[in-house]
Amino acid sequence: MEILLVNSCVRKKSRTIKLARQLAKKLGGNVTEVFLEKERIKPLYGLPLVDRSILLEAGELWDDTFNYARQFADADIIIFAAPYWDLSFPAILKIYIETINIVNIAFEYGPNNSVIPLCKASKLFYVTTSGGTIVNDSFGYGYVKELAEFFWGIKETHLIKVEGLDAEGADVPAIMENAIAHIKAEDF
Ligand SMILES: Cc1cc2nc3c(=O)[nH]c(=O)nc-3n(C[C@H](O)[C@H](O)[C@H](O)COP(=O)(O)O)c2cc1C
Repeated sequence: MEILLVNSCVRKKSRTIKLARQLAKKLGGNVTEVFLEKERIKPLYGLPLVDRSILLEAGELWDDTFNYARQFADADIIIFAAPYWDLSFPAILKIYIETINIVNIAFEYGPNNSVIPLCKASKLFYVTTSGGTIVNDSFGYGYVKELAEFFWGIKETHLIKVEGLDAEGADVPAIMENAIAHIKAEDF
């Protein structure tokens, strides 16, 4: 089983990635971690977008430009490790989503504006931690869940969230220990 762990955690001592790696371990299988900060995937400015469109029109789906998209479409399980930033997630994760959500690799268009998913994954996990309270799940997890269902055909999505890690007086080691115990005990 191929597990793709998409790591959008920027801080060196990230709590989110610690939990996501525990989850990957628990799920079992071959884990490939894509560390977005290291990958330095570029946003879609004018020229790269034009280049990409030319390749797509020519049907050059095996071009290196689409390596991340093919890797994403081939995974059996996807884990997004995404700290809670500004009510949502780090911008590098959005750039990654724009990079992988490629027509004819991640999905294709069918008749009457329909979308036909082409991704193999059966499950997607969204792991996040926050400093305070997550005011609305829909800006992070909810958005990714919608993408998963609509474009990628992944019906089963799970949210694993741990809140209050920067709150005054928070016993961070205890909160983390408890979260890890939950991940280990859960039957996903
Ligand atoms: C740029 C940035 C934005 C953040 N925005 C929020 C926020 O909107 N709400 C919140 O509760 N915590 C916020 N935090 C705190 C983080 O969610 C919290 O520290 C989280 O545990 C970070 O995950 P990490 O340990 O994996 O880096 C923010 C932190 C950073 C660095």
